[in-house]
Amino acid sequence: MDPNDKKKALRLLTYGLYIATSRDLNGYAGGTINWLSQSSFSPPLVMAGIQRDSSLHQAIATSGIFAVHIVGRSQKDLATSFFKGAAVQGDTMNGFRFGSGVTGAPVLVDPPAWFECRVVETLFRGDHTIFVGEVVAAGVRRNEEPLTLREAGFAYGG
Ligand SMILES: Cc1cc2nc3c(=O)[nH]c(=O)nc-3n(C[C@H](O)[C@H](O)[C@H](O)COP(=O)(O)O)c2cc1C
Repeated sequence: MDPNDKKKALRLLTYGLYIATSRDLNGYAGGTINWLSQSSFSPPLVMAGIQRDSSLHQAIATSGIFAVHIVGRSQKDLATSFFKGAAVQGDTMNGFRFGSGVTGAPVLVDPPAWFECRVVETLFRGDHTIFVGEVVAAGVRRNEEPLTLREAGFAYGG
C-alpha cells in the first residue's frame, strides 16, 4: 500500500464536528472530535473514536458516560477552543457555560443540540478507542446548520 494514497483516501472521508465531554472523580474532560457516527436505531447507539492518551479517554473509560454537542456553523471558535482539552473555571469550560446532564456529564449551553450517552461497549485497538454509547438523553436548543470538518478547514485522519 502506498502510504500517500492511504492518507489521501482516508482524508476523503466526510465528517461532522463535535464537542465531546465527560467527567470522572478526577474532574471534567472535553475535546473536539470528528470520529463519530450513529451505529444503531434501536437501541440508539453512537460510536466515537477517542484518542487513547487523552484526558477525555481517561474520563469516559472510568465513568462510562459522555455527552456529544453539535457544533453550529457560527461556532468555529467553540471547536477551536476544545482542541486542547477542557479548562474549567466556575461554570465554564474554555469560557463556554455548562451545566450537568442527566448522566452527570457536563452539557454545554451554547451548541444547537446535544445528546448524552452511557458506554455499552469498548474496543481498545490502536491509538484511539471506540466507545459505543447508548443515547439516553438529548436536547435541541435552536435550528442552526451543523459545521462540518471540511467546511471548518480542519483535517483529522489519514
Ligand atoms: C480537527 C481535529 C479533530 C479531532 N478529532 C478527534 C477525534 O475524533 N477523537 C479524539 O479523541 N480526538 C480528536 N482530536 C483531538 C482533541 O480535540 C483534543 O486534542 C484532545 O481530546 C484533548 O486531549 P487532552 O484533554 O488530553 O489535552 C481532534 C483534534 C483536531 C485538531
